[in-house]
Amino acid sequence: MNSHDRHDWHSAEYVEEWVTRSRQEDDARLARFRLMADLVPHLKDAPITILDVGTGYGPVANVMLEAFPQSRVVAQDYSEPMLAHARRTLASHASRVTFVQADLMSADWVAKAGGPFDAVVSSIAIHNLQSAPRIREIYREVCLAVNDGGCFLNLDLVNAPTPALQRRYWEVMSSRREARSPTGSPSRGGTADLARMPAADAQTDDRPPFPASVDDQLAWLREAGFSQVDCFWKEMGLALVGGYK
Ligand SMILES: C[S@@+](CC[C@H](N)C(=O)[O-])C[C@H]1O[C@@H](n2cnc3c(N)ncnc32)[C@H](O)[C@@H]1O
Repeated sequence: MNSHDRHDWHSAEYVEEWVTRSRQEDDARLARFRLMADLVPHLKDAPITILDVGTGYGPVANVMLEAFPQSRVVAQDYSEPMLAHARRTLASHASRVTFVQADLMSADWVAKAGGPFDAVVSSIAIHNLQSAPRIREIYREVCLAVNDGGCFLNLDLVNAPTPALQRRYWEVMSSRREARSPTGSPSRGGTADLARMPAADAQTDDRPPFPASVDDQLAWLREAGFSQVDCFWKEMGLALVGGYK
């Protein structure tokens, strides 16, 4: 596991703390999740099937269920404590949600999730695998599971294009953290998506912190078989990449 990104997603205590901090950022995150919903190329009343990869406590699934009132959502994660949170988050839509416990590192995760899907979405989950080759494979597996005319949208942490820019991102994030918190305490693993980037003082060398840059992601999406591929939104090390099939 990358030292910048330690999580214990199977620990109920860790997950409880992470979800509590993340929920404080739900309003800020909502705009990005709504952009993802707007990018899904289907009418809002279409009876589509959506897969949320690494659903966590279900914030993206929730936005999709509200944006597409006739949709069905498969909420996938390997963490039972996270799925327990997701069941509570999505309780008011329970009849339209299927919860699937599956590990993205295992070959059968898509088969467990079912499909095919009209849209596959994901938020700050896939980088957790810390393996560029596995993520590249997952993009192929996702593409095979997406119906023609469907899409894959992945909001995730990405490497800066150069070490100098990576350092600049961390400096900006550190000063923002200090401005937010009187103690300047780091929020690694918690609060806003961008605050999940490592602190500047955690930077000991020029190794990239995440498995891929935006350019890598776009190349993998094209290679996987998506035809219209782009980075739809980006703020420093957080990017929404995706493709239409
Ligand atoms: C940072 S949380 C994001 C949760 C949610 N998508 C959000 O945006 O709030 C990452 C999620 O990915 C899940 N995850 C990490 N590695 C996984 C794996 N190998 N298989 C399935 N889920 C995984 C974790 O359990 C966790 O719920």
